[in-house]
This record gives sequence, structure tokens and C-alpha cells, in this order.
Amino acid sequence: MVKAVVLGAAGGIGQPLALLLKANPLVTELGLFDIVNTPGVAADLSHISTPAKVEGYLPPDDGLKKALTGADIVVIPAGVPRKPGMTRDDLFKINAGIVKDLATGIATTAPKAFVLVISNPVNSTVPIVAEVFKKHNVYDPKRLFGVTTLDVVRASTFVSEILGNLSLSKEVVVPVVGGHSGVTIVPLLSQSSHPLPAGIATSDYEALVKRIQFGGDEVVKAKQGAGSATLSMAFAGAEFAGKVIRAVKGEKGITAPTFVSLASDPAGAAALTKELGQELEFFSSTVELGTEGVVKIHPLGTITDAEKALVKAAIPELETNIKTGTNYVAEAY
Ligand code: NAD
Ligand code: LMR
Repeated sequence: MVKAVVLGAAGGIGQPLALLLKANPLVTELGLFDIVNTPGVAADLSHISTPAKVEGYLPPDDGLKKALTGADIVVIPAGVPRKPGMTRDDLFKINAGIVKDLATGIATTAPKAFVLVISNPVNSTVPIVAEVFKKHNVYDPKRLFGVTTLDVVRASTFVSEILGNLSLSKEVVVPVVGGHSGVTIVPLLSQSSHPLPAGIATSDYEALVKRIQFGGDEVVKAKQGAGSATLSMAFAGAEFAGKVIRAVKGEKGITAPTFVSLASDPAGAAALTKELGQELEFFSSTVELGTEGVVKIHPLGTITDAEKALVKAAIPELETNIKTGTNYVAEAY
């Protein structure tokens, strides 16, 4: 039995994500919470012939608490998306408060749930959830994940485009490490399961890196003020949630890049910290998942000089983003 809950379930990501979770046969209960429209979304999804029982909740009458009761996995795509000209950090002012309040609800109602944070800026909202859980004495770093899967999905797609065969994209695996915004997104293309064409021009390699790092901007621009990636994010979120659910149900050897606390695996963190050359509280690396969440944080391994430079460039921004989230909670209490 797996109860999955989506917070922000009526939104651009929330609705297709809820659809994909409803289509996941391992999900037996689906709780949908938003400040608007969840009864309609739930009624609609409840007619789909898959096992999950669907309920929609709104804030009145303890809706958040009811949605979260018994939750095994909570996915959070609640919050405002970017418009052209904005950075993800520009969303912090609004989304920090939303995430803090939702994290408080999880900490008090479903403290053992696996929490998957989609709301931007992920590099700061994940630390917010961690700090709120610490305030409630229920923090287990193994159970908290920033969802960076869209960067991985983009890398697979763009690499298979370059290889001239989009049908490869399901098989192409490119570790994307660091965080989830601009230069903190670091694709390790040298470790791609399907190597780039031999002799690829440096300018083409650099353009590919930039496209993976700024893929979000491509969608924001194309949507002309109507928001950011929603459908590809729902796909990515459902992929990652599906992996967590399979791991929790006992499947072994499941790995995925995700933004986690380095306290979730001190031994793995020590090796990673050595590679990074400095301590960071959170970092996205390939993580092995198990029944209790994080089993092992993998090191970066062998990377090229160009990739080392990308990692180096990511660190200061990551450090600032993490501090922004942590300080926000410290000041709020
Ligand atoms: P959206 O505006 O379409 O939907 C957001 C939903 O959140 C709305 O339905 C809104 O009512 C709801 N909401 C607002 N406050 C809430 C609260 N307090 N409790 C519950 N629900 C609340 O936005 P979207 O396009 O779905 O994007 C959502 C977030 O996801 C944004 O912050 C966006 O930047 C982020 N995002 C992250 C990634 C990633 O890779 N991690 C990718 C795409 C988008
Ligand atoms: C993305 O990568 O598409 C998301 O983080 C949304 C955004 O603001 O770009």
C-alpha cells in the first residue's frame, strides 16, 4: 500500500503529475491538496481505471492535515513559476513561505514520509524543508530530496538528438550534478552511457552544456509569460517518484541524481567533499535509493577538466542558495 500526496496538485505541474501518479499501479491512494480546484481534479482522476483511490482537499476543515494523513511520499510542486526575465531566485520571496508552511504540515502530520521538493528555487527550498523538520525534531536527511530529474531528462533528450536518434533517449543516462539553477546544473557528459560523437567541436560541447543548464529558460521564453516547464516536469517528477516508490518497496540498485543533504550518507559525503574541495550541506549527485531513502551518495568519479571547471563554478552559488534557505527559517522562528 502506498499513499502518494501532491501539494500544489491543481497547478500546471500538479495536474499532469497527479495523472501520472494515478497511472502508477504501485500507488494505492492519492491525496491531492491545493488552495484551489482539487475536488474537480480528484473527481476527474478518480474515473481512471487504476488502483489508486483519489481524494482532493482544500485548506478549510484541516484539508492539508487530511491530505497528508498516512502519506508515504509527498511531492511538492506548489508555488509560483517564472516569467521571462526572472531567475529562479526571484521566486524565493513567495515560494519560501509556501514551502515552509507545507513543510510544517508534513512535519506535524506525516514526519516519516519521503518528501520530494519541486518548488523553485530548489537549491533553497530543500534547505527550508530540512530546517523546518529540524525545528520539529523530526528531520531524517535520508528522506528529503530536491527533484533535479528534469535536468537529467533534458540531458538524455539533447544527447540523443545530437546522436541523431531520439528513440535512444529512454536509454541515455547522463549524470547531472550540483543543483537546479543555471551554472549550478552540471552535466557530466563524459560519463554519458552513450558517448558524444568522437571529435565533437568544443563549441558544440559548450552549447550542449549551456542548453542543459538553461533548458528551463528555453521553455519560459517559449511560453511567453504563461509559466515554465510543466509537462516535462510532471514526466520527470513521476519518474523520480516512481523510483523512490520502487526502492521503498524493496527493489535494489535504484539510482538517480537528486539534491540531498550530505548528512544523509556521511561516508559517501566524505568522498564527495574531498572531490569538491570544500564542505557543502546539500549537493545533487547520483544517489542509491532504498527502503529508508538515501542508501549511498555516489562520488563524482573521474571527470574531465572542463567538468571540474563547471563544478568549481557551481559551488559559490550553491553555497549562497543553501544559506538563503537556511537563514530564512532561522529568521522565521
Ligand atoms: P502553477 O502556478 O501552475 O501551479 C502552482 C500551484 O501551486 C497552483 O495550483 C497554486 O494554487 C498552488 N499553490 C500556491 N500556494 C499553495 C499553497 N500554499 N498550498 C498548496 N498549493 C499552493 O506553477 P507550476 O508551473 O506548476 O510550477 C510550480 C513550481 O514548480 C514553481 O515554483 C516552478 O518554478 C517549479 N518548477 C520546478 C521544476 C524543477 O525542475 N524542480 C521544474 C518546473 C517548475
Ligand atoms: C525548469 O528547469 O524548467 C524549472 O526549474 C522551471 C524554470 O523556472 O525554469
